[in-house]
Amino acid sequence: ERPRVWVSQPLFDDIVARLGEHFEVTATPEVTRHAPAAMAAALAAADGALVTLNDPIGAAEIAAAPRLRAIANVGVGYNNLDLPALSAAGILVTNTPDVLTETTADFGFALMMATARRIGEAERWLREGQWRQWSFDVLLGGDVHGATLGILGMGRIGRAIARRAGGFGMRVLYHNRSRLDPQVEREHAAEYVGFDELLARADHLILVLPYSPQSHRLIDAAALAKLRPHATLTNIARGGIVDEDALCDALEQGRLAGAGLDVFEGEPALNPRLLQQRRVVLTPHVASGSLATRRAMVALAVDNLIAALGRGPNAGRPPSVVKAGIRD
Ligand code: GLV
Ligand code: GLV
Repeated sequence: ERPRVWVSQPLFDDIVARLGEHFEVTATPEVTRHAPAAMAAALAAADGALVTLNDPIGAAEIAAAPRLRAIANVGVGYNNLDLPALSAAGILVTNTPDVLTETTADFGFALMMATARRIGEAERWLREGQWRQWSFDVLLGGDVHGATLGILGMGRIGRAIARRAGGFGMRVLYHNRSRLDPQVEREHAAEYVGFDELLARADHLILVLPYSPQSHRLIDAAALAKLRPHATLTNIARGGIVDEDALCDALEQGRLAGAGLDVFEGEPALNPRLLQQRRVVLTPHVASGSLATRRAMVALAVDNLIAALGRGPNAGRPPSVVKAGIRD
């Protein structure tokens, strides 16, 4: 009997079809927010699952899934998955690093620039019909070139952003749980600083760190108070890293020049205060969303699942396994 695989969301049909060469596949035809009971029922019948960041899987779903051996997450972040519970149950977890690094860095840089130069606000202003006459002092922003970029989280994506910053003549500061090798620091012209110093010195701060209990609301009122009033904050990591109410307070009180947010704590629900802010650029979690990269992510997740369930050319050796307790 062929292993059974559940696909939690519609992805690219032509790529997902490869699963059918090895497995009995149950696909979800429409984008779905699976209720916990429905998720548990789907997983209960599966040997493997292809899931996305829309699909939280915790101890209860795992307890109900005796056959489950592998979960392939489409995405580099995997905070939707209870990793300790999965590893305790012997279930292999894979993600999709590397294929999305450059695309996500492009978007992070674009969002930072859009925030500094107030592009979202300028476009709204024009569409509202407010442009009656060109004037010298309308919508003035901050510079990106020559400014100091603070990168919080210096993984693959953080380093790709640092490389872009070099082309803009920026000074790059970073903070990370562990310091990079001196040679890698030199290659990226990046200077390691403490968390407080990063906040105090950045003209533009960008968040590219994994979401975990340690990073939950790391950017809270106290952290925001350390930023300079002309600074911008860009978040392409996970919404829960920022205290959104504290961010709105800082914006309303002029203690921060602007924010570019691609991720939100309760997404797709939005904190209504954020929608009231003028100096923000808000995007719907699309940083890895070029067509080529989204296809590459699904292809890698499919390869991972085939290999994790012992089939295909990499049988038993999935290309990107997430190790419990280890993030790189
Ligand atoms: C998207 O947010 C991802 O983690 O890939
Ligand atoms: C995230 O883990 C990254 O690739 O930077």
